[in-house]
Formats: sequence, C-alpha cells, structure tokens
Amino acid sequence: MRVLVIGNGGREHALAWKLAQGERVSQVYVAPGNGGTARDEQIETVPIGMTDVKALADFAVEQKMTLTVVGPEVALAAGVVDEFRSRGLRIFGPTKAAAQLESSKAFAKDFMKRHGIPTAAYETFSDAAAAHAYVDGRGAPIVIKADGLAAGKGVVVAMTLAEAHEAISWILEDNKLGVTHNAGGARVVIEDFLEGEEASFIVVCDGKHVVSLATSQDHKRLLDGDAGPNTGGMGAYSPAPVVTPNVHAKVMHEIIQPTITGMARDGHPFTGFLYAGLMIDEHGQPRTVEFNTRMGDPETQPIMMRLKSDLFELMMHATDGTLDEVELQWDRRVALGVVLAAEGYPLNPRKGDAISGLPEDDDEAMVFHAGTAMVDGQLVTSGGRVLCVTALGESVRTAAQSAYELATGIQFAGRQYRSDIGHRAIKR
Ligand code: AMP
Ligand code: GLY
Repeated sequence: MRVLVIGNGGREHALAWKLAQGERVSQVYVAPGNGGTARDEQIETVPIGMTDVKALADFAVEQKMTLTVVGPEVALAAGVVDEFRSRGLRIFGPTKAAAQLESSKAFAKDFMKRHGIPTAAYETFSDAAAAHAYVDGRGAPIVIKADGLAAGKGVVVAMTLAEAHEAISWILEDNKLGVTHNAGGARVVIEDFLEGEEASFIVVCDGKHVVSLATSQDHKRLLDGDAGPNTGGMGAYSPAPVVTPNVHAKVMHEIIQPTITGMARDGHPFTGFLYAGLMIDEHGQPRTVEFNTRMGDPETQPIMMRLKSDLFELMMHATDGTLDEVELQWDRRVALGVVLAAEGYPLNPRKGDAISGLPEDDDEAMVFHAGTAMVDGQLVTSGGRVLCVTALGESVRTAAQSAYELATGIQFAGRQYRSDIGHRAIKR
C-alpha cells in the first residue's frame, strides 16, 4: 500500500520513516519533503507544495494512495482534509473547521471556556486601546497571543508591562510578527501567566475514540537554561517524567475527553493528532496552554523512535473510526532529540551551508532532516531548524550522551544547538 505524507520538516521525515516500516506499506511519498527524505531509499520526494491542496489530491488519485497523513498546520488551515474527503480519499487530520483549535487562539479559548477545560483566564480584543487598558489593569507578567497562525512566533510572554504594550502594538497595529490574521482582522488574546512545568500531550483521535501517544517535553527557547527567544523547538525527549500516572489520568479526564466530546457536540468531530500543550503546576494540576491540531516538531522524532506498533495500522484504525480496538506498544527506553539549527535562527536563518559528517542511520539513533536540501549532489542547509539528532538510551542521561556524540560530529557553518536538552528530567 502507498502512503503520502504532507510536509517538509523533521516531523514529516520521522512520520515517513516510521510509516515505511509498516508491514503492508510498499512505498511512502513525502510532498514536498526535504534533503533527508530525498536521500532515504524507502521514501520518495514529490515536488508539490503543502498548501496546494488540489494538486495533492490529484496526486493521491493518480498514484492510488491508500492513505495520506498531514504534517503541518498550514496544510490543515488550507483545507487539505476537506478537499481529500470531498473526493473520497482517505486522509488523517482534522478538517479546516476542527483545525481552528490551533489556527485561532480565540476559537480555542472560547471553546475551552464553554466546555470547562482548565486553561488561563483571558480576554480577546481587536481594539488596541482596550487591549492596552486591559493589561494596565491586569499587571505583568501577562501573555499576549496573536489570533492566527504565526509559525510559533505569535506569542509573547511579557514579564513587564512595557513588553506587553509593545506586543499589542506589534499584533494589532503594525503586524510585526507576520501573523496570518483570521477572518474579521487582527485580534489578540491576552491571558494570565501560568507557572509550572510544560509537557506535550499528544493523542490520536478518530472523532470519537482516543489513543494517547507517549508523553514528551520540548525545549522552546533558543539558548541553554531556557533563555533567549522562543523557537519552534530546539529539542525534545520522551517520556516526560512530569506527566505522572496521576497527571496523565487528569489530562485525559479534564482536557482530552471533554475536548473530543465538545468538538463532536459543536459539529466539528475531531479527527487527527490532537496536541495539548500543558502547564502542570506544583500540585500536579494540568492546564491547557495551547492546542495544536498536528504532531509536535521536534516531539515527533523521539516519539516515533519509541513507537513499536505499526504506525500505518494505527492511522488506518483512526480513519476507520476503530481506535477503540488499538493498544500501542512502546519501547520502554528514553528517546531524546537535539535540534541543530542554522546560523541566524530563529529570526534570519542563513541557507546554503554545506553539511558534512552525517552518521549512518540505525534504529537506535536517527538523524531526521528538516531544513536541508540536495543541491548538485551536496546536502546543504535550507531552513532554520536543519537536523534533529535523535537517540534511544536507558535513561535521559544516556540518550542525551548518544545524541550529543552524534551531533558534535555533524558539521555546517554557523551550526547552533542547545547543550542541555533533557536537563529537567536529568535533575529529577
Ligand atoms: P503557545 O504558542 O500558546 O504554546 O505559546 C508558546 C509558549 O509560550 C508556550 O510553550 C509557553 O512556554 C509560553 N506560554 C504561552 N501561554 C502561556 C501562559 N498563559 N503562561 C505562561 N507561559 C505561556
Ligand atoms: N514543538 C512545539 C510544536 O510543535 O508546536
């Protein structure tokens, strides 16, 4: 059977790699893919843009795809699932309407309030003067979120009122963060600052049933010690010890189940990966910081390395509505991924630097590609997050050792990476 993966990041490389191991899978295609999917013998790269939904559906028909799996939010927001379904094609992901849980912070916050799902208190504004007045009344720290897709850059955690005012101006007045505004124009969600430890909680949904994936934790800041600007994610590991069995049960009961029931009741049954970004306080109470309607990147890379079950069969159950028949098997070891980023990331990543020293892939250690391209037979950087070096180990410490050993052998000019991925779990 043939499978198409839509996207071009490390997440899609990891999904394609895992799908290619499926017993019944003969070929995996990735559109548009990257330098790593192009090198991988089991994967074929297809030059179709990820928001070109008609061309993607045409390709799926022509090539007799059994299944398509959507990686990034931009494809979901472009309506790729709606297009495929209207043509009778099997696709795993949420519809454009259901993907509003991620594409509109205002939709997500209103949804959570309506369904009693724990999250930070908030207000939504389109009028800048009213937003400025609200933060003055509320005080700092406070969190300012653009209502639209902004590739991870639309959130400002303002530690001072001055930063909060600046963020409101950026979003409502001059769109300096480059947000794709939703219908109705620029809007901003302003919410209370939550204290605690973050974790990524990702589940597979078929509209009615849910299967949870292994937990993980991502490192969003650019620099060691969680300093510097927010990024898409500089590294991740699985499992996340902060999600104890007790916290896990609470998340399922208080966040995931009400979301699935609520979306179905509101007429948008949720199918696809649902990613709840959690803040877990010192009492073990989880609150939802955000929803994503896709897998996390780089969380996918360690999660896929630990998944022992056949991902293709999981996706088939998810698109058949039979996830209640599924039980997943996980490698009990830890997987940890370190992102190697380009010079200038996240603001202005430089492209075109030659990459050397890549190790041979094996099942214990994989280098997943993101911002790479093959140019005249040479692998070069082509985006901000270039590679994610992911390794398994008996503990967070040993997984980190293996990943870092490989990472230091990979060279490109301006390479930057964090040296402390996994530090929270190592301290425990
Ligand atoms: P989001 O895109 O909503 O996940 O926000 C990006 C990052 O900003 C999160 O991963 C958190 O680190 C931080 N953040 C977002 N909302 C809050 C909040 N209410 N309190 C504290 N930190 C937050
Ligand atoms: N790593 C965070 C995300 O994928 O949104």
